[in-house]
Amino acid sequence: MSTGALPGFRDFYPEQFAQRAWLFERWREVARRFGLVEYDGPPLEPLELYTRKSGDEIVGQLYNFEDKGGRQVSLRPEMTPTVARMVAARANALRKPVRWFSIPQLFRYERQQKGRLREHFQLNVDLFGEGDVAADAELLAVACEIMRSCGLGPDDVVARVSDRRLLTALVRGAGIPEEAIGAVFAAVDKIEREPTEALVKKMTEVGVSATAAGHVLELVKGSDFDALRTEFAGHGEVTSALERFDTYRALLDAHGVREYLRLDLTIVRGLAYYTGIVFELFDARGEFRAVCGGGRYDNLLQALGGVDMPALGFGMGDVVLGELLKARGKMPGGAPALDYWIAPLDGTHRMAATALAARLRAEGASVEYPLKEQALGKQFKAAHGAGARAVVIVGDRYREAQEVEVKDLATGGQEVRPLSWLLDHARTRPTGANDRP
Ligand code: HAM
Repeated sequence: MSTGALPGFRDFYPEQFAQRAWLFERWREVARRFGLVEYDGPPLEPLELYTRKSGDEIVGQLYNFEDKGGRQVSLRPEMTPTVARMVAARANALRKPVRWFSIPQLFRYERQQKGRLREHFQLNVDLFGEGDVAADAELLAVACEIMRSCGLGPDDVVARVSDRRLLTALVRGAGIPEEAIGAVFAAVDKIEREPTEALVKKMTEVGVSATAAGHVLELVKGSDFDALRTEFAGHGEVTSALERFDTYRALLDAHGVREYLRLDLTIVRGLAYYTGIVFELFDARGEFRAVCGGGRYDNLLQALGGVDMPALGFGMGDVVLGELLKARGKMPGGAPALDYWIAPLDGTHRMAATALAARLRAEGASVEYPLKEQALGKQFKAAHGAGARAVVIVGDRYREAQEVEVKDLATGGQEVRPLSWLLDHARTRPTGANDRP
């Protein structure tokens, strides 16, 4: 049998786990600052939850099967249907707006490539019960603040933002029939991946004139809001969508994240349920896939639970963000450090060393000692290997006078200290075991 994981799945050895924990800590810390509270749901859901509303792309990637009770089930490929179901079930009892976050592991049977695995962790931030554009701005501000908290500024990351209502209004304004709007959205979604002629052809096949198709692609590529304002001056739907965008921009300015913002009508999002402002975060050099994606989905709770409640949210994956942070040298490396290595001088001091380790652990310090008799030289090597900050030598002096020798492995300094000093040091140590070295 192979010792490797399945294709597209990861083993998190302690070093990788430490990086994952660091990233989750950034996510949780920013979420806390925005008053978001954490929840979770089941990793396995009824298949129907996804086939109803997520859209074909994700449904084609499901890890689904029949369980032993004959139910059609699927591992969760995304969190949105679960959270929409949970909120719909308690819609009346929950304080509005609902401000929730979660860090689920998700499963999609994708073709494995850079930035795409078959499992990933995804921070989900979702707000429910607020239709005002201020909620849209708050949501994007969370995503941008996370970038900032990871050391990624507007020179590193851009938030490409569009509005499905604006795009719909433009398409209607360009005289495109209602039944072809879906096909136009699909074409816009592929604007960066397929040549214009192929996209125009797809649209003409569903009854759009070649001129109108070409015109819409031009408008979208240009994403020039002043030009749109002029061209569609008398068109109420377009004008109100543009005005909403002006407010959105001003709010993001107030949040201090306006610098990240790029208005970009080519962003439509692959998932079917979005209804309003949508966005994706990308690295500014365009080397990686999307770090994050989301937007408003005001009709999903109605579709899943018969509850009329506006909703919006985003998902930010750990894979692309991890790749980007590593590429920009912003991902801290290494496993968690150890506070003390307790080194018995010889076999006669092993019991005392164990008892001292227990006392220091009781003070909250992280402590290791050799589990078998070991020469001091070997112990120092092991202490270095474990990333210990200090080695505490337990010898005759400890037995006679409750004193230890403490060697600081960073400075190389060595001093004799009373036990009381050591216990005090353990209590007030500046950094804990889970901090990064
Ligand atoms: P999504 O665009 O499918 O949206 O995924 C969001 C992010 O998750 C992507 O930008 C990417 O970073 C990461 N991601 C997605 N699939 C994979 C994969 N196979 N491997 C690695 N990373 C991946 C959603 O899932 C929506 N449910 C987000 C949302 C929440 N919308 C509203 N609330």
